[in-house]
Amino acid sequence: MKEYVFLDGEYIEADKATIPVRTHAFLYGTGVFEGIRGYYNKDDDTVYVFRMKEHYERLLRSAKVMWMESPYTLEEYQQITIDLLKKNNYHQNVYIRPSLYKSSIKVGPSLTDNKDSFLLFTTPLNDYYDADKGLKVCVSNWRRNSDNAIPPSVKVTGAYANASLIKTDAHASGFDDAIVLNEQGYVSEGSAMNLCFIQNGKLITTNTTDDILVGVTRNTVLELAKDLGIETVERNVNRSEVYTFDEVFCCGTGAQIMPIISIDHRTIGDGATGKITKIIQNLYYDVVKGNVPKYSHWCTPVK
Ligand SMILES: Cc1ncc(COP(=O)(O)O)c(C=O)c1O
Repeated sequence: MKEYVFLDGEYIEADKATIPVRTHAFLYGTGVFEGIRGYYNKDDDTVYVFRMKEHYERLLRSAKVMWMESPYTLEEYQQITIDLLKKNNYHQNVYIRPSLYKSSIKVGPSLTDNKDSFLLFTTPLNDYYDADKGLKVCVSNWRRNSDNAIPPSVKVTGAYANASLIKTDAHASGFDDAIVLNEQGYVSEGSAMNLCFIQNGKLITTNTTDDILVGVTRNTVLELAKDLGIETVERNVNRSEVYTFDEVFCCGTGAQIMPIISIDHRTIGDGATGKITKIIQNLYYDVVKGNVPKYSHWCTPVK
């Protein structure tokens, strides 16, 4: 089956889509992007795109910081995405990757006088991790880039060199992933996911000002937890605390809801998926497939 992408206003076959080698975004990492998931619901043979509007709202916020003039409106991005998914005709889970990027052919880092282009591709994607197994992580000795350097709340391609170093070094040391501290020494997030902690039945997550990407999944988890009657707290988290929480999980579009079962070789809880993590995980997997009417407004069917 032919797969299409959307580039410079046109739907083209993926293997015919090319970008010139001197493109600014390639030379300087000056693109902003989103990672969105589409979930295939077997029962009604439909792919549902999860919280597409919120992802494109964040893309537009990222664009604003990066001196970009968006070529499309919020509504147009969503329509282009649905149209591309229809063209690609998936009957499985998919990953959706929109990028706005500086496309002028020019040397020098300036963001002004520099054309903005939009690329969208989609690709089949299943789970990154085995949700039942849980992750063994370390605390990285790299720090998250701070808001005054490359703002983590802005999803800039160039900033992901930080995530690459964190993840690769964690893997090289035998861990699945890593927890990252910010320059103040507080817990920030994972390599490319947010963190949640359970203590005495309360759900704790780091502040939006702790140098995190404010995740769509994080916000979803906070909302689901509140609806489940779980008290939620957003606060600074110290490194030493993470070893002692009853449950720890990470959340993100890619990772979904993934338990963390050990940190720096210290077992979390009893070393398996925690009780509250499991409740949130189960609800999340139902919600994203459009199976829970209360949250079905978050799921856009590809129809
Ligand atoms: C650095 C970082 N933090 C957090 C997240 C989770 O964000 P979301 O839930 O919006 O996917 C991501 C994933 O995109 C990320 O790259």
